[in-house]
Amino acid sequence: MDLQGLKLAIVGATGAVGQETLRLIEARYPKHTNLKLLASKRSAGRKMEVNGKTFTVGETTDDSFDDADLVFISARTEDSRRFGPVAAAAGAMVIDDSSAFRMDPAVPLVVPEVNGSDLEWHNGIVSIPNCSTTPLVMAVHPLREASPIRRIVADTYQSVSGAGGAAMNELREQTRTIMHGGPAEPDAQPQQIAFNVIPQIDSFNESGYTREEQKMIDESRKILHEPDMAVSATCVRVPVLVSHCVAAHLEFAEPVSVGEARELLSQMAGVTIQDDPTTLSYPMPVDAAGCDDVFIGRIRKDASHPNGLAMWIVTDNLVKGAALNALQIAEEATARNAVHGKTR
Ligand code: A2P
Repeated sequence: MDLQGLKLAIVGATGAVGQETLRLIEARYPKHTNLKLLASKRSAGRKMEVNGKTFTVGETTDDSFDDADLVFISARTEDSRRFGPVAAAAGAMVIDDSSAFRMDPAVPLVVPEVNGSDLEWHNGIVSIPNCSTTPLVMAVHPLREASPIRRIVADTYQSVSGAGGAAMNELREQTRTIMHGGPAEPDAQPQQIAFNVIPQIDSFNESGYTREEQKMIDESRKILHEPDMAVSATCVRVPVLVSHCVAAHLEFAEPVSVGEARELLSQMAGVTIQDDPTTLSYPMPVDAAGCDDVFIGRIRKDASHPNGLAMWIVTDNLVKGAALNALQIAEEATARNAVHGKTR
């Protein structure tokens, strides 16, 4: 079965991730026009062009999925909760970008390069991880070949596009307003984001961690099949439009050299090492934006632990952090004959 022959429905087609999904479909499947673009009632009737064909965006309803083989959902979490099970019951394979089902034991949480085999046991819904978890596990997974990992400390620098198109507009407009002496009026973000950093993404748990931080902890363990792995995270929103960064500190059971880590990371599909301090070469959001890969640099021995390595990981949160990972799941499921959808 080929992805080319399947009917794809995209819920949230007008959003930041949805538009990236359409761009990737154009890049990877330039002849694919068997698409259904869905969003909220607000966008119903809007025209969007994909692969040279004009589509009319439809309102997402319970009847939207009867003719779909694969349904990509990137809308609000409540939309995933409502429409994910409906689409799966209609016979489609759902690839969901929200946190709604990620920790459900019956739902695989997949980064194909890391745990693609988990697609074998899905029941109609597959989740993609949070956009900072994906680059972290892409870096961690190959290094486990050198030595088991005892502990991960991951601190993120996350762009506003992780909070959607409205947050991107807010950063642009707030920057202009403040430059002209006006007041910051936070709306899409909990605090002023222009000329600031916010140590809060999502709401707080009783533990003092935010839900975003807890997602990184729980999701990393699930994807890596390491339920007891020690993981801590601090997630920070920065005034960057696209791409998330992670400063990761990994503690191994045995010492791992920088050379060995480089070698293993260089063999990992979807990872590009960009690490040459002599030429000031290291990953940055502006360079990673629009690219498929996870970029890793600043690889060094952790000065605080003999078995530790530190590194800097950057990826486009809308691409590998969301739309590309979802599309790769569809491709992997197709290759494994694990879509279980209705081919028409
Ligand atoms: P719409 O543009 O009609 O509001 P972003 O992450 O950039 O904020 O985008 C969110 C996406 O989720 C948009 O495509 C948005 O559509 C979509 N969305 C919001 N509410 C719903 C809903 N009730 N049903 C389906 N899609 C929705």
